[in-house]
Amino acid sequence: VFKTIIFIILAYLIGSMMSGYWIGKYLYHKDILDLGSGNVGTTNAFRTLGVAPGILVMFLDILKGVVATLLPVFFGFTAINPLFIGIFAVLGHCFSIFMHFHGGKAVATSAGVILGYNWQFFLFCLAVILITLLLTSMMSVASITTFVLGTLYAFFFLGDYFLSIFGIISTIVMLYAHRENLKRIRKGTESKIPFGLNYWF
Ligand code: G3P
Repeated sequence: VFKTIIFIILAYLIGSMMSGYWIGKYLYHKDILDLGSGNVGTTNAFRTLGVAPGILVMFLDILKGVVATLLPVFFGFTAINPLFIGIFAVLGHCFSIFMHFHGGKAVATSAGVILGYNWQFFLFCLAVILITLLLTSMMSVASITTFVLGTLYAFFFLGDYFLSIFGIISTIVMLYAHRENLKRIRKGTESKIPFGLNYWF
């Protein structure tokens, strides 16, 4: 139990590290919270800071999930499924101790958790998010679709109940984090990114 708590706390602290906010603030002297959608995640880093910082934030946020999930595995700790440690990195990312319990929208960090756990499933989710992004140009719609389809796929096709439970919890957290996006989607005012079929053709 002691070790479980230590790994959970570490995962939460790793997840709490706000790369988007810190890179914006210290490298670009911009407060990402006041720009674009006001989110600290990858999408808003691309939108407000540029492509290179966007890639860096995406990489670091994915890395948080990978590290938090693989840390217990690395130390040979098998008492609990690594996904249940990884979920605390997602919670740290969304409710960061360094940002008064605010934070990102769960997407990149959850991707990191599943990359650390099952890379084939990660590739499945990557394909879904890219296809929905091409069809809709809306990162929020693509993210929500991927979480829902990924969870259903984990349950019905993989029969992986740990992954299904991770999917359900992370989907609830990400839907809560996307509540403003959901309102904008309903109103038809959600922002689009230059990555849809309509952009290429
Ligand atoms: O990565 C989060 C994405 O789903 C939405 O981000 O900045 O458009 O609210 P944003």
